[in-house]
Amino acid sequence: MKNPTIGILLTITCLLIATATATAAAANETAWLQTFCRGNKFTTKLHFYVHDIRAGPNATLFTVANASITAASPTGFGRVNVFDDRITVSPDIASEEVGRAQGTTASVDLAVTAFSMNLNFFLTSGKFNGSTVTVVGRNQFADAQRELSVAGGAGAFREARGYAITSSYSFEAATNYSVIEYTVYVKTSRKCS
Ligand SMILES: *[C@@H]1O[C@H](CO)[C@@H](O)[C@H](O)[C@H]1NC(C)=O
Ligand SMILES: *[C@@H]1O[C@H](CO)[C@@H](O)[C@H](O)[C@H]1NC(C)=O
Ligand SMILES: *[C@@H]1O[C@H](CO)[C@@H](O)[C@H](O)[C@H]1NC(C)=O
Ligand SMILES: *[C@@H]1O[C@H](CO)[C@@H](O)[C@H](O)[C@H]1NC(C)=O
Repeated sequence: MKNPTIGILLTITCLLIATATATAAAANETAWLQTFCRGNKFTTKLHFYVHDIRAGPNATLFTVANASITAASPTGFGRVNVFDDRITVSPDIASEEVGRAQGTTASVDLAVTAFSMNLNFFLTSGKFNGSTVTVVGRNQFADAQRELSVAGGAGAFREARGYAITSSYSFEAATNYSVIEYTVYVKTSRKCS
């Protein structure tokens, strides 16, 4: 390199970026669950990754029914799946498991691939261990970002309302394995001040 100063600056920049990335990853692991006050009500923000494995020995999603049209439909219309997916704090499936995403999806659009979701986030860790958030809505899978509704909950999330933002994080064709990112805002009727 002609100019040693540029070389040193580049090295420092790379180190700074690497440190920032490592810090972000560490923050991710502790920040999956946050509770705060919004409009005088307790609101919980959940941020985690759902592992949807559709084939192979570790499959967690299975097709339970097809319609007469499903095989001929470009959108798989009428197919019903049931799943019990692992929820982790980071995109790595080996990272800490904090819950299960359990429910059903049905292909409900004749023109584009879209699912009607019945999704229960059953938490198995943290201060709301044992509580459930129930999410429903229309999920148009090819969209970069989808919005679903928090329709209710149980335990700490009784009388919950809110919304979930979801996006596809990664996909592996060999086992039809999707990692799906969720950010969920859950408001309960409980007053916080
Ligand atoms: C993955 O899913 C697609 C679409 O449902 C299917 O055509 C393909 O056979 C599946 N692959 C495996 C490995 O199951
Ligand atoms: C299935 O899970 C086990 C245990 O986590 C893992 O060692 C194995 O690599 C997985 N198999 C596949 C095909 O992903
Ligand atoms: C549904 O159809 C797919 C092919 O489109 C097939 O692989 C699967 O076994 C069928 N499942 C059921 C439960 O009928
Ligand atoms: C969550 O609660 C269950 C049932 O009470 C308990 O067995 C388990 O150890 C708890 N998990 C954590 C991570 O606290």
